[in-house]
Amino acid sequence: MAEKVSVLIAEEEVNARIRELAAIISKDYEGKQLHLVCVLKGGAYFMIELAKYITVPVVIDFMSVSSYGSGTTSAGRVKILKDLDEPVQGKDVLIVEDIVDSGRTLSCLKTMFESREPASLSICTLLDKPSRREVEVDVEYVGFEIPDAFVVGCGLDFDQRYRNFPYVGVVEFE
Ligand code: IMP
Ligand code: MG
Repeated sequence: MAEKVSVLIAEEEVNARIRELAAIISKDYEGKQLHLVCVLKGGAYFMIELAKYITVPVVIDFMSVSSYGSGTTSAGRVKILKDLDEPVQGKDVLIVEDIVDSGRTLSCLKTMFESREPASLSICTLLDKPSRREVEVDVEYVGFEIPDAFVVGCGLDFDQRYRNFPYVGVVEFE
């Protein structure tokens, strides 16, 4: 299937918003050490950019879960493929995601993280598609709300491609 990618959010806009979010987060976590937990692979690009501009001490860790296959619809399940290196008990944890779509992935992750008893648990996502929500999930930090379209770039993929694009693009299938 051939596809075309058109710009939805320009690189400059993405970068500016990431700096804004980092400033807000730095203020909210003043005096604390922040544990950024990234959901691979999509969240990695955003988390690294975000971490650069956070001014409180930051520790990063990675987790890999499977929720989507190679298509564009949610499987509605989350399986841990790679767990965190460090326990999160007693820590101020911020889960960093690329996008919240149905909310299933984050809702599962949140329940799982809560059982590990962090001092606090919040979520930061670069993109949010509120119109697609099937499961209620509180997201404290949102970069951009976007319409119901399949997007790539800034860590997001279509069949593992386009993650490295510096802007958010909409995939149009021809
Ligand atoms: P949810 O469980 O439906 O909220 O899906 C979250 C995951 O689905 C994200 O972390 C992405 O990996 C993937 N996803 C959802 N929407 C898109 C999209 O528009 N482009 C690429 N991946 C997406
Ligand atoms: Mg993801």
